[in-house]
Amino acid sequence: MAIILGIESSCDESAAALIGSDRTVLAHRLAGQEEAHKPYGGVVPEIAARAHVQVLTPLIEAALKDAGLALDDVDAIAATAGPGLIGGVMVGLVTAKALAMAAGKPLIAVNHLEGHALSPRLADASLEFPYLLLLVSGGHCQILRVDGVGQYRRLATTIDDAAGEAFDKTAKILGLGYPGGPRVEALARTGDPKAVPLPRPLLGSAEPHFSFAGLKSAVLRAAQSGAHRPEDIAAGFQQAVVDCLVDRLERALAKSSSSPPPPFVPSVSRDLSQPSGITSLDFARDKRNLETRPKTLVVAGGVAANGAIRAALEALAARNDMGFVAPPLWLCTDNAAMIGWAGAERFALGLTDPLDIAARPRWPLDPAAEAARGAGVKA
Ligand code: KG4
Ligand code: ZN
Repeated sequence: MAIILGIESSCDESAAALIGSDRTVLAHRLAGQEEAHKPYGGVVPEIAARAHVQVLTPLIEAALKDAGLALDDVDAIAATAGPGLIGGVMVGLVTAKALAMAAGKPLIAVNHLEGHALSPRLADASLEFPYLLLLVSGGHCQILRVDGVGQYRRLATTIDDAAGEAFDKTAKILGLGYPGGPRVEALARTGDPKAVPLPRPLLGSAEPHFSFAGLKSAVLRAAQSGAHRPEDIAAGFQQAVVDCLVDRLERALAKSSSSPPPPFVPSVSRDLSQPSGITSLDFARDKRNLETRPKTLVVAGGVAANGAIRAALEALAARNDMGFVAPPLWLCTDNAAMIGWAGAERFALGLTDPLDIAARPRWPLDPAAEAARGAGVKA
């Protein structure tokens, strides 16, 4: 069994984990920064980076102690190398480089999104490629076809806000505070989802992309009108998000089953002297997968913690004769176990990275994906 040290620092969670290639979580330590960012109603990059500097090394030490291991017992060191808030990413990546150099261990630069995308396989050994993944977090809202490690086809993305961002903004409008998702969900439980008419942006459109900016503006107008109870706005908002996610996924499913695989073949980059770090696997090896309809619907990312969304996705999967996998909540939100696991999957394939690899604020999982029409500046 290989043992991987995983390090995460791309947003407002500092975390370290020790993961066995047999899926054992030997240790996981996490330190959130909620209190530090609370006064600002959102994550402040500079504050986040400084906090990572303070807590990351002690977290790694504690994780090793929890597992009863020394750095020498570890086979490789995996850290998030992007995408994310660049100051924090650099703290985690440089820490990993220093440990790798000092202990003479290989470094694995993990794409944070790949961490989310592969995390369901840590929790569920029976989950096989290909699967359809809804990745819904504060920074991302994407539908991906996962054909293998390093093999991702992005079917949809958001043209403006991410779903979690919409939850956070709705919470702010309703005066619920930060982080918003769980608070909106709690308030929505006592509201009537039909009481406030709210839009479902892009519902029924041909491409399965998402848009939440218009919904957020409608929430703001409804709140400012003074004509509605906050719980009804919360319930109406959550229902609108559920309806959009379900409709867009149905569309993506139709698309992923019918359309031929894209002609683009990512380059095989095994030249470890290349600082690009995109060690894409040879697509040809798993070409058969591209013609197979995904048998499982998987949800990952912080918004997957939402009970109403989980229930709707489970029903959608059943309607489409698909399995449904939602990792446990602690694995859905940012954590280091998913980074360690992505590292373990890469390590098993011989994919390690050079010590001069760069941290990347942007790093799409599917470099061939075209920009969504109407998309703003966000990746
Ligand atoms: O994956 P994550 O921990 O961090 C990244 O954005 O990468 O996701 C955090 C997001 C936040 O926007 C938060 O409001 C949302 O997930 N979230 C929820 C719930 N719990 C967390 N959204 C809706 N309902 C929830 N129960
Ligand atoms: Zn995340």
